[in-house]
Amino acid sequence: MSENQEEKKPDIGKENPEDKNSKKNSVPPIKYEYEILSEDYTNFDLSFKLIVIGDSGVGKSCLTNNAVKNIFTESYNATVGFEFFTFNVKMSGKIIKLQIWDTCGQELYRSLITNFYRNASLAIMVYAINDRATFENIEMWLRELRTHSNPDAKVFLIGNKVDLEKEREITTEQGENYSKQNKLDLFMESSAKTGLNTQNIFLKAAELLFDNYNKYQNEKKENENEDNDNKDQSQVLRDDSKDSTKGCC
Ligand code: GTP
Repeated sequence: MSENQEEKKPDIGKENPEDKNSKKNSVPPIKYEYEILSEDYTNFDLSFKLIVIGDSGVGKSCLTNNAVKNIFTESYNATVGFEFFTFNVKMSGKIIKLQIWDTCGQELYRSLITNFYRNASLAIMVYAINDRATFENIEMWLRELRTHSNPDAKVFLIGNKVDLEKEREITTEQGENYSKQNKLDLFMESSAKTGLNTQNIFLKAAELLFDNYNKYQNEKKENENEDNDNKDQSQVLRDDSKDSTKGCC
């Protein structure tokens, strides 16, 4: 950490009593039993790639740093290219590793970051609730994403900097409506400064990807069972056809 960085240990995931929207910002509970792991596990069960995108200065790095390292930096150091983080969580006994690529928002690097979209299981699109232009640009980020990412990639929309309520330019409802209209997978507001919802974003990401994985495994099992049933059926038919007395007048 550089000298001008200020370290802060916020109450991660707790509601901010000064935030009038804290009721609206409550997140549905995680349906699996979970534990956030402080160690970076090499021996994980599942791993997913996530990308964090959005305009420069909306708080992508602060948000990720807050969720992963429990710190907040007041000074602004623009990301060059990307920064890599990991978020490890145990869900229903399985160790899930989220590989997070925090990208830079500057236009100069935009063509570079589209390479990161590929193979991403989930994208976190961030705007700042006190900056209308960053919300309007979400349209462009979503277009970029849909063009370059895997079509099955999940998408979250995050309105950051809710601690700056007095400067708010985008209402919670506007964020929610945009998310619904564009069939995004989750909308949430957050503050990297107070810690509101920072870890919840990544917990919800892990939950959704774990859900998807479980669904896929169950479907695979069902298909295998169906195949086995079909095999058994054809075996019965073959055995029946061997029996020359059956079906004979
Ligand atoms: P790029 O790296 O240029 O893409 O920017 P970024 O989106 O990663 O923004 P970054 O996290 O570097 O934050 C930019 C500025 O916003 C910094 O000065 C942060 O201190 C400030 N900031 C980030 N999140 C919050 C927040 O939730 N509340 C407040 N009040 N300030 C924030």
